[in-house]
Amino acid sequence: MYTQSFNVPDSTDGSTLKVVPPAASAHEEALQTQFDARIDADGKIEPREWMPEAYRKTLVRQISQHAHSEIVGMLPEGNWISRAPSLKRKAILIAKVQDEGGHGLYLYSAAETLGTSRDQMLDALHTGKAKYSSIFNYPTLNWADVGVIGWLVDGAAIMNQIPLCRCSYGPYARAMIRVCKEESFHQRQGYEALLVMMQGTTEQKAMVQDAVNRWWWKCLAMFGPPDADSPNSVQGMRWGIKRISNDDLRQKFVDATVPQAKVLGVTLPDPDLKWNEERQAHDYGQIDWDEFWATVNGNGPCNKERLGTRVKAWNDGAWVRDAALAHAHKQQARQMKEAA
Ligand code: 3HC
Repeated sequence: MYTQSFNVPDSTDGSTLKVVPPAASAHEEALQTQFDARIDADGKIEPREWMPEAYRKTLVRQISQHAHSEIVGMLPEGNWISRAPSLKRKAILIAKVQDEGGHGLYLYSAAETLGTSRDQMLDALHTGKAKYSSIFNYPTLNWADVGVIGWLVDGAAIMNQIPLCRCSYGPYARAMIRVCKEESFHQRQGYEALLVMMQGTTEQKAMVQDAVNRWWWKCLAMFGPPDADSPNSVQGMRWGIKRISNDDLRQKFVDATVPQAKVLGVTLPDPDLKWNEERQAHDYGQIDWDEFWATVNGNGPCNKERLGTRVKAWNDGAWVRDAALAHAHKQQARQMKEAA
C-alpha cells in the first residue's frame, strides 16, 4: 500500500527561515559553507562532522519526540495483548508492540549521536517537558481500535516517515529505513484484521465503523499543524530534515486512504470529503485544532495516564538498571585484574 519510493520535491519558499546565528569566525564560516554545500547537494551529515548548533538542536527535538512517540505508542495497544481474540492475533500484537519498543531504541540511539544522553531525553519526557505524538493520548475502547490503529495510525506514521529515510542526518535516515519496513507490516496487519471483522457479524462491522469514526480526525491531526501555523517546517525543509510539508503529507494520506476505506466497506466520517477533479485530490473538512492543541499541551483524555504509566515503568525498572550497571562494573574490574 505504501512504498519507500516517493518522488518528492525539495524546493521550499525560504521566506520564513528561522534566524540562524551568524558564524563566529572565518574558520566557522568555512565550516558553515561546507555544511550548506553538503545540504544543497543532498548529501548526508554524520555525527562527528561540524553542524550548526540550531541544526543539532532541531534534530534532537524531532528525533527525541519521535522516540518518545514510539515508546508511549506501545501503551494503547499493549493494553490489548491479554485480550486479543485468538492466539494468532495475540502473537502478531506482541510482535508489533515489541517492534515499537525497538523503534524507540534506534531513535534514542540516533539522538544520542548528537550529544544528548538518553537519561536527559527520558527526564524531559517524564517531567512533561518533551512532546510525543498527540495520537497516543486517546483510549483504545475495543478490539477494532487495535485494527484501526494499525491501518490508520501506522498508515499515517508511514506516510510521514518514508520521507525521513532521506533525511539529511545519516543516523536518523538509516534508522528510518528499518522503522518504515516494520511499520509497513504493522499497517497491513491492522488492515487485514479489519477486513476479517468486516466479514463478521453486524456487531463486529459496527465496532469497526465506530473505531474509524473515533480515530479518523485524530489521524489527520497527527501530521501536525497546517503549514501556515507550523513554526519549524520551513527551516526543517531547508536543512533536508523534513522533505514534505505537514499539509502535503496529510493530503497524500487522505488520497491513499479513501480507496482503502471503500474496499473495507467503511465510511470515513467527513461529509465534506469528496474528489476534486481540478486539484486531482480529495477535499476534506475542518480539523479541530483547538482539541489537537489541548491534547498536545497535556489535556487530552489519556495524557496523565500515559505519562503516569511511563514514569512508573521507569521507577519500577530502577533495580534492573542498577543491577546491569553493577554487573558491568564487576566484569570490567575482573577484566582489568586479569590484564594487569
Ligand atoms: N503531536 C504532538 N505534537 C505535535 C504534533 C503531533 N501530532 N504535530 C506537531 N507537533 C508539535 C511539534 O513537535 C512542534 O512542537 P515543538 O516546536 O515544541 O517541538 C509544534 O507542534 C509545531 O509543529 P511543527 O509542524 O512546526 O513541527 P515539526 O516541523 O517538527 O513537524 C512532525 C512535526 C511532522 C511531527 C515532525 O516533527 C516529524 O515528522 N517527526 C518525526 C515523526 C514523528 O515524530 N512521528 C510521531 C508519530 S510516531 C508513531 O506514530 C509511532 C508509530 O509506531 C505509530
